[in-house]
Amino acid sequence: MKHNLLEICYLIGSVTFIIGLKMMGNAKTARNGNLIGAVGMTIAILGTIFLHDGGVSGLIYGLILGAIALGTIIGWMTAKKVQMTKMPELVSIFNGMGGACAALISIIELNHFYHAMHNPASGVIIMVATPSSMYGMMIAIIAGLIIGSISFSGSIIAFLKLNGTMNQPIRLPSYNIINTIVMTGVFAFGGYIVYSGGSMMLAYSLFASALIYGVLFTIPIGGADMPVVISLLNSFTGLAAAFGGFLYDNKVMLTGGILVGSAGTLLTLVMCKAMNRPLSNVIFGAFGGGASAAGGPEVSGSIKDIQVSDLAVQMNYSKKVVIVPGYGLAVAQAQHIIKELENILEERGVEVKYAIHPVAGRMPGHMNVLLAESNVSYDKLVEMEDINPEFEQTDVVLVVGANDVVNPAAKTDPSSPIYGMPILDVDKAKSIVVNKRSMNAGYAGIDNLLFYDPKCSMFFGDAKKALTELVAELKTME
Ligand code: TAP
Repeated sequence: MKHNLLEICYLIGSVTFIIGLKMMGNAKTARNGNLIGAVGMTIAILGTIFLHDGGVSGLIYGLILGAIALGTIIGWMTAKKVQMTKMPELVSIFNGMGGACAALISIIELNHFYHAMHNPASGVIIMVATPSSMYGMMIAIIAGLIIGSISFSGSIIAFLKLNGTMNQPIRLPSYNIINTIVMTGVFAFGGYIVYSGGSMMLAYSLFASALIYGVLFTIPIGGADMPVVISLLNSFTGLAAAFGGFLYDNKVMLTGGILVGSAGTLLTLVMCKAMNRPLSNVIFGAFGGGASAAGGPEVSGSIKDIQVSDLAVQMNYSKKVVIVPGYGLAVAQAQHIIKELENILEERGVEVKYAIHPVAGRMPGHMNVLLAESNVSYDKLVEMEDINPEFEQTDVVLVVGANDVVNPAAKTDPSSPIYGMPILDVDKAKSIVVNKRSMNAGYAGIDNLLFYDPKCSMFFGDAKKALTELVAELKTME
């Protein structure tokens, strides 16, 4: 009876994960999708604690519930406080915890395994004529240990890079060759443990070597490529959890792990596609280490800036304005003032739309989530393929804190590191205004020829401050 109930809890958990994930594909249903997934997870966890076979002492229950309460409080408070621009950091640290859990589960289960198999009299592990199921179990344990450990240490390095503690990529000479050798060595070592039965000592050595490989794998990658790497590590964690599911014959762990693994892999590929860079280029390409690493076009010509009063006049008398939000909008937390700008312009009969590039900002959907915070209507957010043909009929394009996603070098300069990345064709608009604080480069560390376009004017300043001035100016123009 108890067992059947537990299976039902797992079934509910698995179904809610799938429904929740599906709902997260749409901004309108994402919040509820997240909630449904969380309810399913809670049911699965409570089912596991209270409906499992075999007795557990009150002390163990106390420890489990205490740990859950502590984790919930820390997780809740951290997630509540985090700024949108710090989200990739949070994801990396949470992901690292998932990887660590998978690795620790493997170590604990190996310990159980050796206790069960050990012959105390001879001190020899009984692995003679090992049944295939035992190999299967060892493979699941060792794979979880290796992948979880790589994911843990890799995520910690990713976190340190994103928060600026490790701000330069560390590239050992021939690091690609060294990393490939270490990776092969770690998996071969794991294979040896499965084959020979191994020992706890060997398992700890494998744990340490997988941790080292996780560090080696992540340190050469530029801080700029961390969102892609985190998503990749996320898929590793999913895979490690799925191996845990195999091990315990636990359907919900298996489903959850597979979903995380496949979602992480798809997200990695989507980001690579949107940047038009193969994954191998992200991992081995030494991109994003700053301007010198990235190179860029020779820039000549002059730029012109625009005063707030002139910009207000231009926008006030436009028929159509397209706003291009980028990373700088998020940094400046200018999402509310931009909504105010939209309201004023619409009151004056100007059509306003937002052009959303798939990798604007620092994580997938960054701009959508940011603008949703200030209640910008979803219908106004137009994807790149749909907005590009509209730029020719646009009077003013206002680029706010975006840079790479509007850089024409992606189309015109084969030597550019972003060559081939699809961009927003803002240069087709009648007038272009770019708001940023300086002439500094964006994420790819390269200059932007758009700023030197005769149709382009620079509206310098912090996005929030500059837009507040623009809105104030427009208000004086009743
Ligand atoms: P970026 O190219 O990074 O440019 C952002 C610009 O914002 C900077 O040039 C900066 O110039 C400006 N800025 C910073 N703070 C500002 C502030 N307070 N007020 C006004 N401007 C400010 O951003 P983007 O165009 O959104 O492109 C995103 C980049 O991230 C792409 O290269 C993409 O490939 C990469 N990337 C994105 C993702 C995802 S999934 N979104 C994942 C991996 C990589 P100043 O310093 O002069 O102000």
